[in-house]
Amino acid sequence: MTRKRGGGGGGRRRKDAAGDPQPVADTAPAPTVAAADPPTPEPALAAPAPVDVPRPDPAAAAPQPAPTWMLYGANGYTGRLVLAEALRRGLRPIVAGRRAPEVEALAAAHGLPARSFDLSSPATLRATLDGVSLVLHCAGPFSATCAPMLEACLAAGAHYVDITGEIDVFAHCHAQDARARERGITVLPGAGFDVVPTDSLAALLAREAAAPRELVLAFEAGGGPSPGTARTSVEGLARGGRVRRGGALVDVPLAWKERAFARDGVPRAATTIPWGDVYTAHITTGAPDIEVYMTLPPATIARLRRWRWLAPLAGFGPLRRWLAGRAGAVPGPSDERRASSGCHVWGELRDAAGTLHRAELDTPNGYDVTAWCAVGIVERLLREPPREGGYRTPSQWMGADWILSMPGVRLVRAEPVREETG
Ligand SMILES: NC(=O)c1ccc[n+]([C@@H]2O[C@H](COP(=O)([O-])OP(=O)(O)OC[C@H]3O[C@@H](n4cnc5c(N)ncnc54)[C@H](OP(=O)(O)O)[C@@H]3O)[C@@H](O)[C@H]2O)c1
Repeated sequence: MTRKRGGGGGGRRRKDAAGDPQPVADTAPAPTVAAADPPTPEPALAAPAPVDVPRPDPAAAAPQPAPTWMLYGANGYTGRLVLAEALRRGLRPIVAGRRAPEVEALAAAHGLPARSFDLSSPATLRATLDGVSLVLHCAGPFSATCAPMLEACLAAGAHYVDITGEIDVFAHCHAQDARARERGITVLPGAGFDVVPTDSLAALLAREAAAPRELVLAFEAGGGPSPGTARTSVEGLARGGRVRRGGALVDVPLAWKERAFARDGVPRAATTIPWGDVYTAHITTGAPDIEVYMTLPPATIARLRRWRWLAPLAGFGPLRRWLAGRAGAVPGPSDERRASSGCHVWGELRDAAGTLHRAELDTPNGYDVTAWCAVGIVERLLREPPREGGYRTPSQWMGADWILSMPGVRLVRAEPVREETG
């Protein structure tokens, strides 16, 4: 059972000329998320007891057909890894995406059904999801693709899972919580490296903390980006940085803060980035102040700071498309590169009593983590659909410890170190 934590709360803040964060309205107000699986109320006794003893239904004992689920964006770099992981586990999705030749060839190679469609027509999208019980959405940037797919899932009564890391997309999904509850579907964005390991580490730390106050998460990602990650990062450049303060999302400049995190005793330079946990860790832990850092070479951090003035320009359509096109030309890490690279995650949580709880995680390459986590989350949703619908963070659905069961994942400090900060 997961516990209830506060919703997004309050307005986002923008920095004023003096550099102090000022509140502005959230693009999507975050409703409070109630605890997952609250006690089911007793059903009212309406029907009289039947006179005849019902005979057992032979069909009820027969094996049920596997629920039908769809992998959208299956032909992308990450979609292909996710498909391979699904097949490894014996799960057979409908292979879907907008590019018919690629989607059909991929489906045919594995003897799977294919559906090709883009996301422009709500009616087509809705009809395409007929009979589908879950969509795993891997087509991003999700700023463009989440809303139409989520609407179709709400209409069709299909669970929605994606691999976004975009704060505004989390906010949009969270804002659909009440509709998802009403429809009885689970909405679970962030089923990849962003945010499963960090969300799980935050939840592990929150278990120890009396009342979480300040959460700092950081990661080092080896192996290089995929085309989609590179394209989505360009959008992030235009949006600037974000952190949580007093429960609200606050706009800050790119590479706002810099600090070091030690890995095996060696300090790594890192800077704040608008990672998905700025949104989700607040729901998972209730911590009102959240910062997420990424390790980068000091020269790259300095360059990001020099690019601050470019951020508004990067929001200009033609320039953004040009930048995204260039960024998206990367091929993504090869199998060998992924196998020889990994990630490291740091978590620090200060509670209301001034105690600092710390832990670290080693994980395989982020794209392998994404495939393993997204498919694991789908597998469980198909096998044990929750009694109640609604928005969930990964650790709310899978539990904080689940990530530790992934081969190659290691909790570096089993017991968080506590420091009295006074
Ligand atoms: N959470 C995480 O840790 C994590 C990990 C990996 C990836 N991601 C995210 O996942 C997304 C995909 O990454 P990737 O590297 O797999 O990218 P990719 O190789 O470029 O593939 C992108 C996929 O999305 C489809 N697509 C893009 N825009 C679309 C649109 N408007 N409508 C319909 N389909 C669209 C593409 O279809 P076409 O082939 O037809 O263009 C393709 O199937 C990115 O947003 C990335 O940031 C997140």
